[in-house]
Amino acid sequence: MRSLLFTLSLLCFASQTSLSWKKEEFRSCDQTPFCKRARSRSPGACSLIATDVTIADGDLVAKLTPKDNDDQINPLVLSLSVYGDGIVRLRIDEDHSLNPPKKRFRVPDVVVPELEEKKIRLEKFATENDPPSSVVYVSDGYEAVVRHEPFEVYVRERSGDRRRVVSLNSHGLFDFEQLGKKGEGDDWEEKFRTHTDSRPFGSQSISFDVSFYESSFVYGIPEHATSFALKPTKGPGVEESAEPYRLFNLDVFEYEHESPFGLYGSIPFMVSHGGTGKSSGFFWLNAAEMQIDVLAEGWDAESGGGESRIDTLWMSEAGIVDTFFFAGPEPKDVVRQYASVTGTSAMPQLFATGYHQCRWNYKDEEDVAQVDSKFDEHDIPYDVLWLDIEHTDGKRYFTWDSALFPNPEEMQKKLDAKGRRMVTIVDPHIKRDDSYFLHKEATEMGYYVKDSSGKDFDGWCWPGSSSYIDMLSPEIREWWGGRFSYKNYVGSTPSLYIWNDMNEPSVFNGPEVTMPRDALHVGGVEHREVHNAYGYYFHMATSDGLVMRGEGKDRPFVLSRAIFPGTQRYGAIWTGDNTAEWEHLRVSIPMLLTLGLTGITFSGADIGGFFGNPEPELLVRWYQVGAYYPFFRGHAHHDTKRREPWLFGERNTELMRDAIHTRYTLLPYFYTLFREANVTGVPVLRPLWMEFPQDEATFSNDEAFMVGNGLLVQGVYTKGTTHASVYLPGKESWYDLRNGKTYVGGKTHKMDAPEESIPAFQRAGTIIPRKDRFRRSSFQMDNDPYTLVIALNSSQEADGELYIDDGKSFEFKRGAYIHRRFVFSNGVLTSKNVAPPEASLSSQCLIDRIILLGHSSGPNSALVEPLNQKAEIEMGPLRMGGLVASSGTNVLTIRKPGVRVDQDWTIKIL
Ligand code: NOJ
Repeated sequence: MRSLLFTLSLLCFASQTSLSWKKEEFRSCDQTPFCKRARSRSPGACSLIATDVTIADGDLVAKLTPKDNDDQINPLVLSLSVYGDGIVRLRIDEDHSLNPPKKRFRVPDVVVPELEEKKIRLEKFATENDPPSSVVYVSDGYEAVVRHEPFEVYVRERSGDRRRVVSLNSHGLFDFEQLGKKGEGDDWEEKFRTHTDSRPFGSQSISFDVSFYESSFVYGIPEHATSFALKPTKGPGVEESAEPYRLFNLDVFEYEHESPFGLYGSIPFMVSHGGTGKSSGFFWLNAAEMQIDVLAEGWDAESGGGESRIDTLWMSEAGIVDTFFFAGPEPKDVVRQYASVTGTSAMPQLFATGYHQCRWNYKDEEDVAQVDSKFDEHDIPYDVLWLDIEHTDGKRYFTWDSALFPNPEEMQKKLDAKGRRMVTIVDPHIKRDDSYFLHKEATEMGYYVKDSSGKDFDGWCWPGSSSYIDMLSPEIREWWGGRFSYKNYVGSTPSLYIWNDMNEPSVFNGPEVTMPRDALHVGGVEHREVHNAYGYYFHMATSDGLVMRGEGKDRPFVLSRAIFPGTQRYGAIWTGDNTAEWEHLRVSIPMLLTLGLTGITFSGADIGGFFGNPEPELLVRWYQVGAYYPFFRGHAHHDTKRREPWLFGERNTELMRDAIHTRYTLLPYFYTLFREANVTGVPVLRPLWMEFPQDEATFSNDEAFMVGNGLLVQGVYTKGTTHASVYLPGKESWYDLRNGKTYVGGKTHKMDAPEESIPAFQRAGTIIPRKDRFRRSSFQMDNDPYTLVIALNSSQEADGELYIDDGKSFEFKRGAYIHRRFVFSNGVLTSKNVAPPEASLSSQCLIDRIILLGHSSGPNSALVEPLNQKAEIEMGPLRMGGLVASSGTNVLTIRKPGVRVDQDWTIKIL
């Protein structure tokens, strides 16, 4: 029976991989009863009123009771907390003193402990009578209001017209289904296709409306393959059949672009932005299935129009209300506020910011050696070679196929000798094979997720019959982490890092290719309550395991497919199984912009598209765009033709090499931006409006993007295109990265986009650090000198930063880093230390070239102080690495000023 099932499931899986996405295998909102119920509620249906308002333990607390309690519903408990910097947290749960059938799941380990330090302990609240409300102070700019009847919570400005910022339940759509005790004859089961969900506690969903004021667009709530500015999903002008944005972590084969369908990850965090240049945010910490509607203007005839407000409807199957309102007002404030709740992204090792070469699968050690040497032969740098599932002994993770990979340690050491790393895959499904040490141990220890009857859950995945480690338990996570020690992971070396795939979790024969919702985790937590966070805990356990392995001295690198708020603290992510189509290249940008906006900046899409065979032109364009992805990896399905960059003829090799070189040249800039993200939460890849919040022309532009504040990149997403329309925002000019030509801001330009490169520009007023020597990996660039590219603005000024540390350890946390700020003003370039006085790292690295864009010709030397030496100035075409612009303007270059990167100095143009 088992083998028949297995064969069937494999057949079904195989057909999934060869055909496109099978919509009918996944539930629509109509087939999801909680979603259907919530969506059909009418505005004003909520009859809850806030009573017994008081202050307790530094929070404002109240009871929520139905106005006329015909339904005999127990009162709910509301508590509102305030944190510094404009953050308001609203929690609503059942009243535990009234003995509900069980405690609803509150997601642990996502909110960072440091948030407590920001808590403003409330001592009092003000009351208002019209309408009756309780008001608390949030910051000098904002206050939070709880209106009593009907209950509503909102943040508003404290001065002027006291304009609203974000509100909850302003349209009376709040609903909280209380846990039930099953009586005789109650039929709570839900069926989908061949699966039955026993739902032992009945319906327990929560839904409510959230409004964003003075907003033109809302963004966020990944992961969907759709536009960056979220389109309305319900209301006037939207098709009746339109689905809400679904947040339910699923293993989706050949996903469609332009769809609200939920993919591998879920971040219930939305950001609004509007014509006033202001942003606000709303985050719901909840790990159950969620569905979110963006309501089209006029959806609620009662509420009138005119206001530039966006209403949304949030629906979740279980959990509690644990929500955060972020007042902004700047876009960067909102991402910082969100980061102070869920954490900033981990500082990656330098190697991880270089190029990664992956394929399902590099077959054996010889294949690995071949691919590695071909990169050298073709003068293409790369940092990491990846091994997919076939490297294992029958998909038993932490093992090697002894025929194909007989000497894994030696293989890794050979790569390491060139400064290159290896990544192997470790998935959460464990082969149910009694002779497999990991399965034996996990079974004996009782470490697997249980099915609804209490037995170890048994589902089908790559290895066949598999069980899944219960990552919700801290004890089990610690045990899992220990599997990565060099002793336990035989054949691993310090240059080996990890890829966590299939962690939604993917269960081939489960409902919607995942685990049944009534499966059980430690503490009796139902899978439905924790589903979206399962992969997060797995990622966390693996990442912590690598830290343990390296005795706390080596920054981990773990790539995850599933995501949840907080994922950014544990590593990188990628957008899963995309397709070798132009539209998938295009949609990768809104997807990565959305991830960055919602905390997960270290992200990328499979270069070339996972499924299918890209034509060379698409592959080249993908490398050109991908060179700016924060996570830069080529990957492909095993059915595809080999596609390493040298397989498409001399010219295409050259084009892909140039794209990868561009990335390596910019590594110092990327690394500095990763540090910025690590400190502030501001992403590496940014929407244009994050840098130009007032410029309405940028609000729905998701084809161009900023890398940091200094680079604007426009991808080419159409076959046979040699031109591109590029909107350059702001009042200042932009310099073409390729040739130094100047373009005015605030205008759309029609540019050449020849096959050599995609349009990319440096913003006037910025300084970008580069390393221009071609090497084979980032490691080999370690001692190379820097180039500074100064793009002067209309006042002939510019500034920029450079961050350097050892690129691998945690010593930077103890101050072992260099952080410089370069300022060009009045013809003088100054290098200033911006690291705190205790920060200390020295470097012999020199700055050997300074390029000034937008400087007139004339001067022929510069004075370097305190060395009191002269440096030569030359005029000539712009260079980037070995590439010399064949056309364009001549630029001024200061050659060999001889200044060190870790010291204070000035260079004066004479
Ligand atoms: C699915 C992943 O998305 C893909 O990248 C990987 O190659 C396969 N699993 C096999 O491990």
